[in-house]
Amino acid sequence: MTDRSPSNAGGATDTTAVCARGLGKSYGDTVAVRDLSFDAEAGEVMGLLGPNGAGKTTTIKMLTTLLPMDEGSATIVGLDVAARPDAVRRVIGLAGQSAAIDEKLTARENLEMFGRLYKIPGGERRQRIDHLVDRFDLGEFVDRIAETYSGGQRRRLDVVASLIAAPPVLFLDEPTTGLDPRSRTELWDEIADLAAQGTAVVLTTQYLEEADRLSDRIVIIDEGVMKASGTSAELKEDLERDVLEVHVTTGTDLARAVEVAGRVASGVSSDPADAGLQIPLKDGSGQSLAVLRELDAEGISISDFQLRRPTLDDVFLTLTATGGDR
Ligand SMILES: Nc1ncnc2c1ncn2[C@@H]1O[C@H](COP(=O)(O)OP(=O)(O)O)[C@@H](O)[C@H]1O
Ligand SMILES: [Mg+2]
Repeated sequence: MTDRSPSNAGGATDTTAVCARGLGKSYGDTVAVRDLSFDAEAGEVMGLLGPNGAGKTTTIKMLTTLLPMDEGSATIVGLDVAARPDAVRRVIGLAGQSAAIDEKLTARENLEMFGRLYKIPGGERRQRIDHLVDRFDLGEFVDRIAETYSGGQRRRLDVVASLIAAPPVLFLDEPTTGLDPRSRTELWDEIADLAAQGTAVVLTTQYLEEADRLSDRIVIIDEGVMKASGTSAELKEDLERDVLEVHVTTGTDLARAVEVAGRVASGVSSDPADAGLQIPLKDGSGQSLAVLRELDAEGISISDFQLRRPTLDDVFLTLTATGGDR
């Protein structure tokens, strides 16, 4: 399963799977994507994380030849997207937010159609379809025509259709939106398997948990602009802070407490509702004691305190204007 050895002849194994440089797109006056650059390598899941309207779908559409880019350029396994759209289409799979499903066909017929489109030989095609139908639990509706499907069933079929050809580069635009928790977990496993076999996966999501769990690399975008990129560990580290939460016993001490804590830390915030302070610290365990000592020396009584590590939520909320619009 983890065999990534390039035993197949002619594989351009050191070609970056997805290379986006300075992508830009506007719809009239709306700048949807601005100067966006990132890479995804074979065997890697690249998570494009951002709230609603961040520009995720626009980015995916540009990379998959569905939308011309206004600015910048991109290559997929070395093929220029603008210059060679047909060649690019042959090496990518896409599960978009609007399905390319034929309403009048059953799920099995749709999958057969996709398999033929990608010229997968009959035996292998049936095997692959059976595997995916089983894996994604399409059994109950696989022989019903698509126009009768629920939103979740349609979503599952859309994703499975993109997996049929096992293309070297796979784009998944919010693949788990509308999936029940079990199907979501199945899809995560399948995506991880595909990456382990060498597929490059570009995945968009609004879910921090999903990006955190699946992605080797995360690019956070908001309002069309990249806010940060790195592994989830790097992003957490980039924030360079633990958070010391302190509650003072007497609410009227709060303003003075903010000032005192400000001698050690910058960016201290307070919440009068619960007489609490949030104190960002670069070195939480080292600096907490200094903060608490200062407060004590000033005669400010503390009812409780707690040191916590930043979560990816903290990163996301700090970096995006709107926060996770979920
Ligand atoms: N066809 C369109 N016409 C006009 N504006 C659009 C169109 N598609 C998207 N937008 C706008 O572009 C921005 C980015 O949208 P989109 O790429 O769909 O974001 P996301 O997929 O992250 O939710 C949003 O402000 C959205 O309203
Ligand atoms: Mg979208």
